[in-house]
Amino acid sequence: MTQFLEMTGISKTFPGVKALDAVTLELQAGEVHVLAGENGAGKSTLMKIMTGVLKADAGGSIRIEGQEIDIRGPLHARALGISIIYQELSVVNNLTVAENIFLAREPRNTWGLIDRPRMIAEARRALAELTVEIDPAAVVGTLSIGQRQLVEIARAISYRSRLIIMDEPTASLSNHEAQVLTKLVRKLASQGIGIVYISHKLDEIFEVADRISVLRDGRSVCTYPAAAMTPDLLVREMVNRDFGALFGTHVSHATDEVLLSVRNLTEKRPGGRGSRVRDISFDLCRGEILGFFGLVGAGRTEVMEMIFGNRPATGEILIGGGKVRIVSPSDAIAQGMGFVTENRQELGLVLGMTVRENFSLTHLAEYCSFNVVNRPRETAACLGYIRTLDIKTPSPEQKVMNLSGGNQQKVVIAKWVARKPRILIVDEPTRGIDIAAKAEVHALLNRLASEGISIIVVSSDLPEVLAISDRVIVLKEGRISDELQREAATKERVMLAATG
Ligand SMILES: Nc1ncnc2c1ncn2[C@@H]1O[C@H](COP(=O)(O)OP(=O)(O)OP(=O)(O)O)[C@@H](O)[C@H]1O
Ligand SMILES: [Mg+2]
Repeated sequence: MTQFLEMTGISKTFPGVKALDAVTLELQAGEVHVLAGENGAGKSTLMKIMTGVLKADAGGSIRIEGQEIDIRGPLHARALGISIIYQELSVVNNLTVAENIFLAREPRNTWGLIDRPRMIAEARRALAELTVEIDPAAVVGTLSIGQRQLVEIARAISYRSRLIIMDEPTASLSNHEAQVLTKLVRKLASQGIGIVYISHKLDEIFEVADRISVLRDGRSVCTYPAAAMTPDLLVREMVNRDFGALFGTHVSHATDEVLLSVRNLTEKRPGGRGSRVRDISFDLCRGEILGFFGLVGAGRTEVMEMIFGNRPATGEILIGGGKVRIVSPSDAIAQGMGFVTENRQELGLVLGMTVRENFSLTHLAEYCSFNVVNRPRETAACLGYIRTLDIKTPSPEQKVMNLSGGNQQKVVIAKWVARKPRILIVDEPTRGIDIAAKAEVHALLNRLASEGISIIVVSSDLPEVLAISDRVIVLKEGRISDELQREAATKERVMLAATG
């Protein structure tokens, strides 16, 4: 294999944060190189330097095929053959697939106008090369998240990229879509394209990797051929402690006092058309952790939004035996509900505000006396959560947009938990969260349950649902297809109920 790119002595300093400290990384043509590390380890920052989005501190060097190069910006990186598929998708939802692939470089006809037939045909060819069946004329907003990701990859390939960086590409994909993607990654590598692959999912890492490099606290820790690495060793290199000690054993705190009852909840569609999500009925007890599993599109998030009042529904909701009226999130919050949403950037956080401001947004009144905010008390509470959840931030006054993806997710969890809700709904709580933080989040949810809080955990991560839940409800095509006590909830039974 030939060396394609070599980074040595790369450092990056942000105000108050040394994100990278003399990092070294070598990438070969045709290899899948996994970059692993905890939240905030510096993975995305290193990739932003490689793609010219950020400038490294002086002193390091980047070589491409042996030649020292100063990557001047994203366009220059692209011209050098380096493309990136971001942690957050960057396709434009109201354009078609073909328009997205050829954005800002559309093929023109002899009159200088966009040559649509040719654009569609070329897009079709690019997609066929990936062996994916997506209509190039479809509007991207109508596609699933997985399909949108494939469109991004088609775009990267159409640039004739020699190196494609994928930053947590499967974080929002269904299991099936993730498998399609990992196969595709192997195929691209076999064609000589180098891939940098960032992921927090261990099984996936070992499925795709030729080599694995680990970053810890902004430093290069090691590089191994995948064959010489084991999951245990990888975790040890990432977190610097033993894996076995991370996850505790499950203790149920479920009582038999029903706190929340949902009866025949059915989506109310405008114009009274057929509702996809319907007849949802279940009970949730005090101190219980109830898992909701289903494939992407099964309606899990919709159910939670209906309960939380941000999606119109018919049916009944009872809390403590009494019927309640919830037609907006503020009604739900007044009833003591909290909702950690799945999409942190759209719903959970105000990116331009600080960690502290985001944190106390949900429960500012708690720190007020006579209408004045007691700032020291607010800061102390925030610092408490920064410690418990190990949120990597130089201070509570850091803007949330400057935190790494996983640490943003932890802020979302902290702000709802701090409110001490009676009922806490968490939708994909550990998406994008590293393995150590995952254990911390699980332990936190368990502790909340022991304090009598009832919790609903929605997740497409089956091992996570099984590890954390006292009981599991399985959704399929908008309906409950099974309900299993912890002891009966095996991987096979749950999958069968979700797909069979
Ligand atoms: N623009 C910025 N300003 C200040 N600090 C930043 C900025 N961008 C990143 N950081 C900090 O640099 C460190 C590395 O962040 P980075 O996003 O590279 O982590 P990561 O390894 O990608 O983590 P994750 O797995 O959570 O995505 C973090 O401490 C982060 O808070
Ligand atoms: Mg990242």
